Amino acid sequence: MIAVTSPWLWYGTRATAVVGLVLLTASAILGIFTNARLGWKLWPRWATQELHRRSSILALVFITTHVATTVFDSYVPVHLTSAVLPGTSPYERWSVSLGTVAFDLLLTVLISSLLRNRIKIEWWRALHYLTYLAAPIAVLHVILLGTDAKKGSHWLLLVLAICVASAAAAFVLRILRSLKLRGHTTAPPQRSPERLRPRSR
Ligand code: HEM
Repeated sequence: MIAVTSPWLWYGTRATAVVGLVLLTASAILGIFTNARLGWKLWPRWATQELHRRSSILALVFITTHVATTVFDSYVPVHLTSAVLPGTSPYERWSVSLGTVAFDLLLTVLISSLLRNRIKIEWWRALHYLTYLAAPIAVLHVILLGTDAKKGSHWLLLVLAICVASAAAAFVLRILRSLKLRGHTTAPPQRSPERLRPRSR
């Protein structure tokens, strides 16, 4: 393979990683909003769902570019196999592997969504929940491998903290919302005052 390296490739790796991370967070929050059946007059549910779909595809485009520039830049020995097979990177084996696992999980979610009409909905839903597993693994990858995070530079950690906090807030909102919806469906049906009134003969 041809050895190519340039600081621009490295800037590319880092810029696409951060944009991918932010888009991934936005997509996760929009997914949670769709699932929680949140919708307003001026912002219907289908708009959230559509934005969720598009932002997840865009996030994967950026993350795939992040992986491609990493593999292409010969400054670090990370080969194509390490992009999909965890534990195969000679460079920072375990921190890169965390990224690989998160990437594999997200690819599984994407493929299952593309095949949504051909697989059982229960399967699709179960595979979609892999996002909740991918998120903390990706966060660990960023903390352990990101140049700025390793140096203790504040901006990357701040972006990461905002992403984690906003996704966690959306998740809590989803739990509260589903508890509320469940409460509505399990409450005994109200008797209408009409039926309570004694019948007149
Ligand atoms: C869901 C998947 C992934 C996400 C969200 C992600 C995100 C990130 C982020 C935000 C950074 C920090 C960038 C910075 O320092 O400014 C980073 C660093 C890095 N990632 Fe990933 N990544 C993912 C998968 C991968 C995979 C599969 C590989 C390997 C093939 C990889 C290789 C790297 C490398 C080598 C760095 C260090 C770059 C540097 O020198 O700062 N990542 N990643």
